[in-house]
Amino acid sequence: MELEKTYHKYDVIIVGAGLAGERAALAAASSNLKTAVITKVYPTRSHSGGAQGGISAAIGNVDPEDSLEAHMWDTVKGSDFLGDQDAIELFVEEAIKTIYEYEHMGVPFSRLPNGKIAQRPFGGHTYRRACYSADKTGHVLLHTLYEQCVKHQVSFYNEFLVLSLMLTDGQASGIVAWDLRNGGLHIFRTKAVLFATGGYGRAYKITSNALSNTGDGLATVLEAGLPVEDLEFVQFHPTGYYRQGILVTEGARGEGGHLLNGEGDRFMKKYAPERMELGPRDLVARSIWTEILEGRGIDGKDYVYLDLTHLGAEKIMERLPQIRDLAISFVGVDPIKDPIPIQPTAHYSMGGIPTNKRGEVIKDAQNTVVPGFYAAGEAACVSIHGANRLGTNSLQEASTFGRIAGNNMTEYARKADFLPVDEKAIKRAEDKVRRLLENDGKTHHYDYKKELQQTMYDKVWIFRNEKDLKEAASIVKGLEEDFMKNVKIDDKGMLFNLDLQEALEVHNLLTFSQIIIAGAINRKESRGAHYRTDYPKRDDKNWTKHTLAWRAEDGSIKFDYKPVVITKYQPTERKY
Ligand code: FUM
Repeated sequence: MELEKTYHKYDVIIVGAGLAGERAALAAASSNLKTAVITKVYPTRSHSGGAQGGISAAIGNVDPEDSLEAHMWDTVKGSDFLGDQDAIELFVEEAIKTIYEYEHMGVPFSRLPNGKIAQRPFGGHTYRRACYSADKTGHVLLHTLYEQCVKHQVSFYNEFLVLSLMLTDGQASGIVAWDLRNGGLHIFRTKAVLFATGGYGRAYKITSNALSNTGDGLATVLEAGLPVEDLEFVQFHPTGYYRQGILVTEGARGEGGHLLNGEGDRFMKKYAPERMELGPRDLVARSIWTEILEGRGIDGKDYVYLDLTHLGAEKIMERLPQIRDLAISFVGVDPIKDPIPIQPTAHYSMGGIPTNKRGEVIKDAQNTVVPGFYAAGEAACVSIHGANRLGTNSLQEASTFGRIAGNNMTEYARKADFLPVDEKAIKRAEDKVRRLLENDGKTHHYDYKKELQQTMYDKVWIFRNEKDLKEAASIVKGLEEDFMKNVKIDDKGMLFNLDLQEALEVHNLLTFSQIIIAGAINRKESRGAHYRTDYPKRDDKNWTKHTLAWRAEDGSIKFDYKPVVITKYQPTERKY
């Protein structure tokens, strides 16, 4: 079967249209580079829009005693001392600039009576540091940035799925993507590529992530022979609507919401007596899960309550209107009158494509740069979040490192030339699609996805142990092997073939999930969101290091490790 091929040429190509991708695109386009964004969904449907409660920066509008030092310390401590402190220091400084830049672009932040940007408390932050727009912060940032991109004439290729990364003599030379609407391969030649492809929550049965979050960038990087970093660190947000996983913002606890178990007890006093519901996410999610495992869920079931009723209708309607709407629609509860049933939900990837603090992708433990290749946002691992991210540091990271990486990419592209195409990458992309269209298998791709998601939920969740992880490794490896032989898609057409798209995405999920699991088996300690019941302590001597993992063509996984950058703060016991 011949697949139609179309060629394009741009100075820079950005894959992904969330905050990181759009901010990078804005940097390049406003410097007059010919800039294209390739995105699987319409830009304003990107998952950055799902982040609700706020974007961090120590601007001190509510707590004047807040400082860069305090933001840095909270982030280092929150990361369980796995975050790279040079990158964190840069991040907290640049964060302030990012907020005022957004303000000048016209972001409709919620305001204090004195007209300054309002700030609310968030888990793990010592001061009120979350700038917000009610409970739609990601949504308003995304729309504002999109307007700016349109104004600066960024070309958007909407509904294109990345299939492969082109590397010519080890330098990024473009990407190959599938046109979801019409079918056909599109080869985008460029001088510099940036991946801002977001997270992968859809590897799990319960997730706050959009259907589109299938880790396509991670799988593409692995297939190109490059490593990923720290994938064993998966963040479980404490509060997703029961059974749905959809996010209930931490801002709800920031505004004063209480967590209650089946005995009506505010159980966080046992686990984080000082911070209570505003402990860091890893700790709060583990506390909820412990209550559930020990039989103190509501009616002994697998959920607890988030109670907002004491906040009153006026505050809920002003600060948390979306949370109320979603609660009514998805769990049939009006939070003005009744507590919301919630459970932890797979939310965020601390790991990702390894970069240095310029946003340049690195390919080994010696930090060797891949020329012309950049990454930012959730898809990247810079690493400021280490083993556990603080809420609101993600919108900030996407924006700030989107700008930094975008500026550096722009500088690089100005001096670089177009390279010849990478024929192997084109073939890899073509083979992927052709195999699915031509295969006459018997198992639907949905069945692989369902088993993967259940396995990750049962065995690679908040509490982990060697036996479960090894079982998960064997199940997921078997799923991938079977998928390659037996997967079936019903639709063999070219036009809006969702069957094909989902099968490609399922294969991506299977590809990197094996690395999450293998990394979790290797890391014999508990740190941040990675909790091993068989190794319940943090092991600074052996494990204050980042995991790098590569996948060979036969599916085998190779590991190496690189040191954590420690500048100001030596690891100490983490208490809240
Ligand atoms: O809880 C929230 O509003 C999520 C924010 C975040 O993940 O940073």
